[in-house]
Amino acid sequence: MASQQENDKQLAAQAAVALLADGMTVGLGTGSTATAALHAIAARKLSITGVPTSRQTAELAMALGIPLADINEVPHIDITLDGADEFTVSLDLIKGGGGALLHEKIVAVRSRQLVIMTDASKLVERLGKFRVPVEVIPFAVRYVQEQIAGMGAACTVRPDVVTDEGNLIVDADFGLVESPSALGARLKSITGVVEHGIFAGIATLVFMGDNGTVRRFPQ
Ligand code: 5RP
Repeated sequence: MASQQENDKQLAAQAAVALLADGMTVGLGTGSTATAALHAIAARKLSITGVPTSRQTAELAMALGIPLADINEVPHIDITLDGADEFTVSLDLIKGGGGALLHEKIVAVRSRQLVIMTDASKLVERLGKFRVPVEVIPFAVRYVQEQIAGMGAACTVRPDVVTDEGNLIVDADFGLVESPSALGARLKSITGVVEHGIFAGIATLVFMGDNGTVRRFPQ
């Protein structure tokens, strides 16, 4: 039997998929909630073109018969549906728990709308309980760890993870984050950092499944 959390993820996914219409180009996120959205798209037999954010998502979309396009071949992306590891009511996010943050962010910033689907465990007052994933070029991993340690954060290289671009993920504990955009900019300035999992000011809407109902942010 599905848990309440899984049910809530499914409800959020269904609410997001209800925004789609035939003919749209849709960014397809990564993770269990994005997987629920893919199943909902297939169940509704929507005629969309998907732009996947990971190899894992591309494989599932193909198995479900959802047509895909390369991000560099589509003129625009109407909307992207993705999950998150944490979000605040001001729609700042931490993403990258599934290691797909780089492609997720590129697809998100190319999209006219980024719609996030979560269960209630992901809503936080301030980001930072979930460690910030940082995608790093392997050659720079020691340097980047030293720089992050110099910022006062403990960090570890995520074991056995190589991203779709052949990079590593460093998970960094900054404690509660006062300014997501400032921390993001600081991380981005470290040589060897390709991208980080702070999505500040990118999401446009969040659907959160909450004990059998769906809440939306902003309301
Ligand atoms: C993958 C992600 C996911 O969206 C995030 O980890 C949430 O996953 P889930 O929907 O399984 O809770 O950022 O890189």
